[in-house]
Amino acid sequence: MVEKANNKILPPLTHLAIIMDGNGRWAQQRNLPRIAGHQQGVETVTHIVDDCVRRGIRFLSLYAFSSENWGRPLQEVNALMELLLQFLFSQRQKMLEVGISLRVIGDVSRLSEPVQAALADAEKVTAKGKVLTLVLALSYGGRDEIVRAARTIAEQALNGELDLEQLDNKLFSSYLDTGEIPEPDLMIRTSGEMRISNFLLWQAAYAELYFSDVLWPDFDATEMQKALDDYLQRKRRFGLTDDQLKKNSTNSAEGD
Ligand code: IPE
Ligand code: IPE
Ligand code: MG
Repeated sequence: MVEKANNKILPPLTHLAIIMDGNGRWAQQRNLPRIAGHQQGVETVTHIVDDCVRRGIRFLSLYAFSSENWGRPLQEVNALMELLLQFLFSQRQKMLEVGISLRVIGDVSRLSEPVQAALADAEKVTAKGKVLTLVLALSYGGRDEIVRAARTIAEQALNGELDLEQLDNKLFSSYLDTGEIPEPDLMIRTSGEMRISNFLLWQAAYAELYFSDVLWPDFDATEMQKALDDYLQRKRRFGLTDDQLKKNSTNSAEGD
């Protein structure tokens, strides 16, 4: 049964995930260094976070740095980490005032000590935020996340902490970095690329996908509205038939 909508968007949109792509091309089109595109991309992040708060979306996951992005030139990697530190510093007060809690997913152990410390601190001070959970995917890869979860499960099974008979989809999910975060309802990718690039592989099993041609630095509230309008037209069946869905919604309406 679908949970009650916590906002005015129907079908309910609790969790929006975004693959923020196209910063490099945005800069290239202007003969600027790639990092200028990333800087502009951070501006977009702050606007989209505000937009999600305004719309009452409860979870926003942003793909900020993939496990594969470690392969980029060191200079670009370092500049991205610097931008991340600046972002955490500049948004701290706002996150507290608005009620935004920060969560990080990904293999944080690969990040530098100062970045790990800044993230841990931001997660800690914002932990009580109830308005929006901002999930930052950093050093994140869906396959890597699943392998890490499988490793923990295997260790716990070997030392008797976990009974493998109990292992089902729900329990497996709880071992992922996303833990209790609900699955994404809608996944947006900008810049015209039509792939998932290792983002939330397990969690997005039934996410609606939306691809925008706009480069991330140019993505704004208008583009967001287009994505949400499109989402509103979707019929989420979760493997069931239309008849079953109609019956379920009548039953749940009667149960209200
Ligand atoms: C997305 O923009 C941001 C990150 C992956 C960090 P890109 O840097 O991938 O931009 P393009 O795809 O090269 O244009
Ligand atoms: C995906 O973008 C990763 C992030 C947005 C952080 P990429 O630009 O790295 O993806 P590919 O290489 O085009 O698939
Ligand atoms: Mg890209």
